[in-house]
Amino acid sequence: MDPAQLIPVVDPIPIPGPWFDVLLVVTFVAHILFMNVVVGGAVISLVGHARNTEPLSRSLSKKLPTILALTINMGVAPLLFLQTVYGQFDYTSSVLMAGYWLAVIGLLLAAYYGLYIYNLKFDGLGGLRTPLLLLTLGMMLWIGFMFSNNVTLMLRPEKWFDYFKTGGAGFLNLDDPVLYPRYLHFMVASLAVGGLFVALRAHFKKDAERLKTGMLWFMRATVVNLAVGVWFLMALPGEIMMLFMGGDALATGVLALGILGAAALVWTGLTRRPVLAAVLTVVTVLLMAVARHIVRTAYLAPWFDSSQLPITGEYSTLLLFLFFLAVGLPCVVWMVRIYVKPANIEGDA
Ligand code: HEM
Repeated sequence: MDPAQLIPVVDPIPIPGPWFDVLLVVTFVAHILFMNVVVGGAVISLVGHARNTEPLSRSLSKKLPTILALTINMGVAPLLFLQTVYGQFDYTSSVLMAGYWLAVIGLLLAAYYGLYIYNLKFDGLGGLRTPLLLLTLGMMLWIGFMFSNNVTLMLRPEKWFDYFKTGGAGFLNLDDPVLYPRYLHFMVASLAVGGLFVALRAHFKKDAERLKTGMLWFMRATVVNLAVGVWFLMALPGEIMMLFMGGDALATGVLALGILGAAALVWTGLTRRPVLAAVLTVVTVLLMAVARHIVRTAYLAPWFDSSQLPITGEYSTLLLFLFFLAVGLPCVVWMVRIYVKPANIEGDA
């Protein structure tokens, strides 16, 4: 049987697919950076309990619920853009993962509660603090693993035949060698960005000790991630890997710049410059997200090309979207400024 027969028919979209590709990559960067902070922040809090550096854990506990909320909010936009262009792949992989995928909703709610209880009952929890945070972190790690499974399973229509072998039971993409370094790449990045979050806050509060702690997490995790990134690259199917090794100028250039960015991040870690590190992190993550998009396009090339999607030419919806984006963004900036004003952060340490 030809895997192409398993791919649903595409629906026309209002404007050319590449518009949505750009929005998908940009909003994905926002989602993944917040995800990095909440997962990395939870790990650093946990280690804080083990090392008896409670004030750092306490301070992080106050931020984690909000950051998880932002992670979820920032996840909605790429989810919509992903479904708009790649729905016939992503919906299929979601259905094939069935229960595993639906369980993400319940686990997300439970993790949200976990972070709230950790924050609001920080003192009252006593010895239960560590197990609660460990459980909550475990749920977040599992959710991330489900996302990696879904977005890799969607790239392998030939794997979808497993549905007939499992007798209709949901399955994951566990036999894909790319899955593990890919997932690890995101999680190690979380340790780095979580550390950067700690360092940035310490920088503005002029807390040299905490700044050092944060930048150490940032730098060490980035060095480790350079190695994980190489593993990820090597695990890709040969012809896709070669695109990044001279086979395609854009792919090679983007990855080379990304690696250069990562090396610059290590340098900002060594010289303890959190603000510069934050700017370079956004740029590097954006480059890596473009590289990830090139990987997706290459995987799907035998089946699909987003620029060939049928369009209805209704540009009015794009204009409306851009209008609300232009009006909405300044409002968001204004709200964030109110939120971070020291006077509005009650009892923050
Ligand atoms: C604790 C919560 C979450 C964690 C840890 C998490 C983690 C991740 C990770 C690791 C990826 C990258 C997967 C890969 O490329 O291999 C990812 C992708 C994604 N996440 Fe999240 N996520 C969380 C919540 C959410 C939520 C609630 C949404 C939607 C409302 C969401 C939407 C997305 C989308 C759409 C992608 C894929 C975008 C693309 O492939 O272009 N995430 N997430």
